[in-house]
Amino acid sequence: MRFAPFVDSLGGEGAEAWEILTESRAAQARGEDVIILSIGDPDFETPAFVVDAAVEALRLGDTHYTQLEGRSSLRAAIAEKMSRTSGVEIGPERVTVLAGAQNAFYSTCRCLFGPGDEVVVLDPAYVTYEACIASTGATQVRFQQPACSGFRPDIDQLGASITSATRGIVFANPSNPTGVTFTRDELNAIADIAIRNDLWILVDEVYNDLVFDGVYQSIAGLPGMLERTVTVSSVSKSYAMTGWRCGWAVGPPALMHHLRRMTLVTLYGLPGFVMEAANVAIREGSEEVALARETYRRRRNLVLEILAEARNLPTLLPEAGMFLMADVRAHNDDANVFAWNLYRSTGVSVLDAGAFGAAARGWIRISYGIDEVQLAEACRRIVEFTQK
Ligand SMILES: Cc1ncc(COP(=O)(O)O)c(C=O)c1O
Repeated sequence: MRFAPFVDSLGGEGAEAWEILTESRAAQARGEDVIILSIGDPDFETPAFVVDAAVEALRLGDTHYTQLEGRSSLRAAIAEKMSRTSGVEIGPERVTVLAGAQNAFYSTCRCLFGPGDEVVVLDPAYVTYEACIASTGATQVRFQQPACSGFRPDIDQLGASITSATRGIVFANPSNPTGVTFTRDELNAIADIAIRNDLWILVDEVYNDLVFDGVYQSIAGLPGMLERTVTVSSVSKSYAMTGWRCGWAVGPPALMHHLRRMTLVTLYGLPGFVMEAANVAIREGSEEVALARETYRRRRNLVLEILAEARNLPTLLPEAGMFLMADVRAHNDDANVFAWNLYRSTGVSVLDAGAFGAAARGWIRISYGIDEVQLAEACRRIVEFTQK
C-alpha cells in the first residue's frame, strides 16, 4: 500500500522514550507495584461545577453543530484572560477555539509555515512540535539552550541563528520539560529579534497559570508583538481538563480567518457542551487554578527535598508546571538506559528528557502530577537507586 509523503512527517525522534510509559501502564494494570512519573496529566478531577455545566448543556440539547470559530461567549472569556496576561486589550476577533493546544499548534503551523521556510525551535521543546512543523514542509532549526545555562536562551546566539529563510521562532513558555519561564528581559530580547527579522512568534502557554512566583507576561503584549505573535493554550492543565480537548489560538484577525477555514475542513467546530464547560472554567475557576498551583508548588518542593539526599543527581528548580529535570549523567550517559534501569529495579517510571531535544540529553523528566504519598515513595526509591 502507498501513502502520501505527508505520513512520513508524522513520526518524530522522541517517540521511543514513551515506551516506558506504555510498559509501566500495562504493569500497573496487571497490579504490579509501579509508580508512574512519566506523564503530564493532572491527577485532579475536573471541577464539579464545570462538569455540571456540560451536563446541563447536554440535557438542554446542546448537541448540534456549532460556530466554526467557537462560541462568542467562550472566545470573549479567552480574550479577557489573554488581555490580563499580555497587558494589552485583546478582543474575541483574535481568538479561534480549537481541540486543545495541540490542535491549535498544528493548525497554526499549517497556516504560517511552508516549504523553503526555516522555523527556529528552542530546544528542549515539547515533543510534538517537530512533526507539526515537518507536516508543513518547513525545516525546523533546533536552537540549543544547554543545561549549563539552565536551559535558557543565549540571546546573541539566537539572533545569529536567524537566516533569510527564517519565518518564525517557536517555544513553550513556561517550558515543558524544564519548567523554565522566560523573564521579561528575555522576552523583550526575543521580541526584538522577531521584529528586526520580520518573524512570527508561535508560543505555547499551556502552563502559564501554573507559574509559582511573579506575574506571568505573555510575549504577545510586548510593544510591536501583537500582530506577529500567535499564542496557543487550553483548559487542559489549568483546570484538569485534558480529556475535554478544548484549546485556542490567539493571533491577528487575518490568521483567524485562515484557521476558521481550516476548521471547516477538519474539526467542523467543537462540541457545544465542551465549550460551555470551558467557558465556566475560565470565568469561574480561579480558585481551582490557585489550588492546583499551590499543590504543584508543594509537590515540587517535596521532590526537591527528598532528591537532595540522592547521590550525584543535580536537579533544576522548575519555575512552573508539573515537571522537574534531574541530571543523571553521573550514573549513565544515556538517560533512557538510566530510566529503564530505574524502572526495572524500583518500579518508578520516569522519562528520558532527551526525547525533548539534544539539549536535554543525559537528563530525566520527573512528573509530579500524582499524590504526595506516592510521590514521596517514588522519590525515596530514586534516592536509594542512586546510592547503590
Ligand atoms: C507544552 C505542551 N503543549 C501542549 C500540550 C497539549 O495540550 P492540550 O491538551 O491542550 O492539547 C502539552 C501536553 O502535555 C504540553 O505539555
